[in-house]
Amino acid sequence: MIRCVSCKEEYDDDQIIYTCPKCGNILEAVPDFDVDKSIFDGRRQTVWKYKECIPVDESKIVSLDEGGTPFVHCNKLGDELGIDLYVKVEGSNPTGSFKDRGMTVGMTKAMELGVNTVGCASTGNTSASLAAYAARGGLRCVVFLPSGKVALGKLAQAMFHGAEVFSVDGNFDEALEAMTQLALEKHLYLLNSINPFRLEGQKTIGYEIVHDLGWQSPDRIMLPVGNAGNISAIWKGVTEFKEADDLPMMTGIQAEGASPIYNSFKKKSMDMTPVENPETVATAIRIGAPVSSIKALHAIYDSDGYCETVSDDEILDAQKYLARTEGIGVEPASAASIAGLRKLVDGGVVDKGERVVCVVTGHVLKDPDTAIKACVEPTQIAADVDKLRDIIVNGKKE
Ligand code: F0G
Repeated sequence: MIRCVSCKEEYDDDQIIYTCPKCGNILEAVPDFDVDKSIFDGRRQTVWKYKECIPVDESKIVSLDEGGTPFVHCNKLGDELGIDLYVKVEGSNPTGSFKDRGMTVGMTKAMELGVNTVGCASTGNTSASLAAYAARGGLRCVVFLPSGKVALGKLAQAMFHGAEVFSVDGNFDEALEAMTQLALEKHLYLLNSINPFRLEGQKTIGYEIVHDLGWQSPDRIMLPVGNAGNISAIWKGVTEFKEADDLPMMTGIQAEGASPIYNSFKKKSMDMTPVENPETVATAIRIGAPVSSIKALHAIYDSDGYCETVSDDEILDAQKYLARTEGIGVEPASAASIAGLRKLVDGGVVDKGERVVCVVTGHVLKDPDTAIKACVEPTQIAADVDKLRDIIVNGKKE
């Protein structure tokens, strides 16, 4: 069943709808399961380990073994900040971002519905993931990308997996509006996160976090927020398995130049006013009108969580720091969670001793240009061992 998040009207899940026909609000999937958690033990570490909790037809699964990502205890950074820090490394998914969790479920739903074309608008990662899963499912794939604002690795993936790629003159929000219109006209099946089945896959991040902690919640889960699907999905995941007195404070981090959810949070409001011209170095979250704002704000308010913004410099510093102290390479948007953590520890919002899980959402190689820009160029040198020894061992300048 799918249900409207606002008026609670219920619909069959074989209907292709993206918003509530009655009130126009967004929808959520309502899985019907009652399982003993022990059934998950010993299964392979993928999204489908939790298949009983995911409301799609198991016989149609399209998968690349996504999920089961590293859960790294980051002692050095944690000790420095005075907290118990874990990092959930979603860049280890097959196409390098958390989108694969949603896409395996979304593509499975597409197969179940018997559609032949899938589509999305994307800041990059959704398109990379959709292109790969559409290839695996054998469906036609159309993607809209905001012109000039998609990191190179993501663009390469979408093209290389055979999607029909359109570079749209406009930002992500405008591209999504156009793609949604085509979906409403039934030319394609929309696999942006407004599709409630996408979030059914992404909620497994929440399952894995509490499962890895012995079915305990951390005190806080922090993550970057763009279109606001992922924070909503993780909250759904943790609430499906945890009791109300043991839930994490959901903490969303936005880039300063693209912060509509933060603006609502500051006003303690459920209304979201779009940011007209969003801008940030973290192109993945360069979004001004997040479609899942209602779900995200519910997650933040209901969990007694928080929302913060970080500057581009803070994002880039955190990205480099995480790479160099803990060996975890992430793209700029992902580093927003670490930058936000630092800011909230400094500001006293995160208490000393808290157990915090930062979700880092995409791999460093997604955006090689930004990574290279942050480094000194390699030293160009002849293949001469004497010269190399002089520099490396004797400290001689080239
Ligand atoms: N981190 C990365 C690496 C992303 O690619 C995205 C979203 C987010 C965080 C934010 O997640 O939208 O669920 O709040 N990327 C989308 C895309 C919009 O098209 O790839 P969100």
